[in-house]
Amino acid sequence: MVEHQDAMPGSPFSLQGRTALVVGGSSGIGNAIAHGFQDSGARIAIAARTPEKVKGATLRLQEKDPSARGYVVDATRPEEIDRLAASVLGDFGPVDVLVACQGTTILKPAEDVTPAEYDEIMQTNLRSVFFTCTRFGRAMLERGSGSIITVASLSAHRGWPLASVYAASKHGVVGLTKTLAAEWAERGVRVNAISPGFFMTELNQSKMSPKRKENALLRTPAGRFGQRDELVGAAIYLASPASGFVTGTVLNVDGGYLASGI
Ligand SMILES: NC(=O)c1ccc[n+]([C@@H]2O[C@H](COP(=O)([O-])OP(=O)(O)OC[C@H]3O[C@@H](n4cnc5c(N)ncnc54)[C@H](OP(=O)(O)O)[C@@H]3O)[C@@H](O)[C@H]2O)c1
Repeated sequence: MVEHQDAMPGSPFSLQGRTALVVGGSSGIGNAIAHGFQDSGARIAIAARTPEKVKGATLRLQEKDPSARGYVVDATRPEEIDRLAASVLGDFGPVDVLVACQGTTILKPAEDVTPAEYDEIMQTNLRSVFFTCTRFGRAMLERGSGSIITVASLSAHRGWPLASVYAASKHGVVGLTKTLAAEWAERGVRVNAISPGFFMTELNQSKMSPKRKENALLRTPAGRFGQRDELVGAAIYLASPASGFVTGTVLNVDGGYLASGI
């Protein structure tokens, strides 16, 4: 595990005094980012669907800061996002940093994907991210400030056999991120994406076959999977004043995968 040191309050990387919400913060990458934000001084809220997971993750965050809160939400439902926004506003005040980290996938041949499977992946990975960004974005635009971070994927940059809908959704996340960035920059709201390489989480640990994992490692110049904490620095950078003039960027945290041609 990577050790974090609390960012100095005067540092441009400090999140002191900021409120951050991580949707999809109950496990995996989102949970690591929530802890990293907390260590950098932010007040933390997380949200996801499964109540027990939200409760457990919130308790762990509250061990460091009792003000941390968890919310149960299905982000594919815009009316639930509106309720979440009202609850977080009531509990914390305005949200300064939003991470839209929710995501899902299945691995199967494109020709076998059913309409229901297509809808579930697109609704979770793209539609819900659109409405999470835009519903929270409205309040940020009214205040004239905010940082939104979306989570893309290597499959937003390359063809991704057996993950056609996932890849389509993640290409969409990148397009959405750049478009919102261009649309909102002059109103003080920044929108950037992190593009992770391979991190073994609930999302993919059991879904990737041994052969697929071996291929992933062969194509990753660093020769290993990422550790979740290795995404935290990128998220803190994009959330903090250190990236004040950065918007519309896709920051790859992938052990060199996308840089490599062989
Ligand atoms: N792991 C990797 O190698 C990798 C690589 C590239 C990109 N990513 C992306 O990183 C993000 C996080 O994935 P992860 O690997 O950390 O997987 P994970 O551990 O399964 O985390 C997914 C999170 O999203 C939540 N979620 C799913 N559907 C939701 C919904 N409809 N409404 C609200 N919350 C929802 C999950 O909780 P509930 O299921 O309880 O709702 C969970 O908190 C995803 O967008 C994924 O595509 C991951």
